Amino acid sequence: MANTTSTSPKKVTIAPAKGKLAILTPGMGAVATTLYAGVLAVNKGIAKPIGSHTQMGKVRLGKRTENRYATVKDFVPTANLKDVVFGGWDIFPENAYEAASHAKVLEKDLLEQVKDELSKIKPMKAVFDQNFVKRLEGKHVKTGKTKMDLAEQLRQDIRDFLKTNGCDRAVMVWCASTEVYTPATAVHQSVKAFEEGLRNNDPSISPSQIYTYAAIKERVPYANGSPSLSVEMPALQELANEMGCPIAGSDFKTGQTLIKTVLAPGLRNRQLGVAGWYSTNILGNRDGEVLDDPGSFKAKEVSKSGVLEDIFSKEQYPDLYSNISHVVRINYYPPRGDNKEGWDNIDIFGWLGYPMQIKVNFLCRDSILAAPVALDLALYMDLAGRANMRGIQEWLSFYLKAPIVKPGLRPEHDLSVQLLKLENTLRFFAGEELINHLGLTYYGVDEGDSL
Ligand SMILES: NC(=O)c1ccc[n+]([C@@H]2O[C@H](COP(=O)([O-])OP(=O)(O)OC[C@H]3O[C@@H](n4cnc5c(N)ncnc54)[C@H](O)[C@@H]3O)[C@@H](O)[C@H]2O)c1
Repeated sequence: MANTTSTSPKKVTIAPAKGKLAILTPGMGAVATTLYAGVLAVNKGIAKPIGSHTQMGKVRLGKRTENRYATVKDFVPTANLKDVVFGGWDIFPENAYEAASHAKVLEKDLLEQVKDELSKIKPMKAVFDQNFVKRLEGKHVKTGKTKMDLAEQLRQDIRDFLKTNGCDRAVMVWCASTEVYTPATAVHQSVKAFEEGLRNNDPSISPSQIYTYAAIKERVPYANGSPSLSVEMPALQELANEMGCPIAGSDFKTGQTLIKTVLAPGLRNRQLGVAGWYSTNILGNRDGEVLDDPGSFKAKEVSKSGVLEDIFSKEQYPDLYSNISHVVRINYYPPRGDNKEGWDNIDIFGWLGYPMQIKVNFLCRDSILAAPVALDLALYMDLAGRANMRGIQEWLSFYLKAPIVKPGLRPEHDLSVQLLKLENTLRFFAGEELINHLGLTYYGVDEGDSL
């Protein structure tokens, strides 16, 4: 049998995680403050980082017979949580303690224990344009003659933050509101056109794109936690490649879509057909209020819808998935606050076409699910930067609803496959053998092959 697999790659050179890491978040709302407070609580030993792969994940190394499982942070040099410093921008001037109290995600008891540290995190003035987030109005915003001026101010903020806080490096994770859906125009097609657009105040350049531009220009790895189109634009991807800066997006995969990317591949893998998938949600936080605007909702709808289209490819399985009716709804319902409730009704069909139904009712906590995703993205993006990775970090698709990939590639949405990819990338970083799960070696075929 030919030797097909599992070669041990060369160990990648990764700069050590020395000094402090700034995690900078445009947006200091529910997700961001739950992230900050959570890390502070973990560092004080009063809570556990549940949901975080970087902190709790175990990865198998070597053959199954070796029984070697390593915690991520013990075999790849991710930054230590004790070395993390948080900073952010917001259109409201509240500090992180006040913002977390308003968001009402965490109990008062826990917040009081990290109050001093949270109160010191004060937002920098935001780059904001109400044309892109209709439901919000804030005064804590920058002014400038051109969008390029605003980008320069953000770049200066990053440099000042690093200096003032004695940080060696930074990553940026977008945790601000979802902007109105605005597809790419000519200005988004190349770095040259985009920079001209910044200087000419092109109206189709959104605030999130200005932050992204500023981060990449400062070689600060950038992950987009929302469905707003920023790092998805060709110009900003070109810039990331030019600057040697890692990027990832879009939209934290947290609640309903997380479950979809577990269930849908399962149905497809058993060749069960799907006639319809109706998803609806109620939530009452500020994110819900912003998404109540049709323009912002459109961005979310696009990022949520792509998942099933890709998993249930009608080109490949015309008998099973040609006529799926996929509906996604989000309704703003204040009494629930951050505690989102999602319902899925899935109409499936099996052997000889007989119909069946699956119902899922997920009573989740939006920001409790999102905070560890934001943390892992930040720490892995920092790792990628130190490993000299540039451009799109497809191995982080695990965390994203609408993973960006190189043009011409299909994104991978299946959560298990995404995890295999993430784990193999970590093994690759550490010079450990890649695992392809062929497993023939255990049955006497080609020793050393197919772990
Ligand atoms: N919570 C989840 O499960 C989840 C999942 C996927 C994606 N997201 C996305 O993450 C983002 C944050 O969610 P959230 O629940 O924290 O929302 P939030 O409304 O609580 O916080 C967003 C914050 O961003 C601020 N903001 C808006 N525009 C800004 C700008 N241009 N610059 C700086 N600050 C700005 C707002 O003032 C607000 O404080 C949203 O885009 C949301 O769609 C959240």
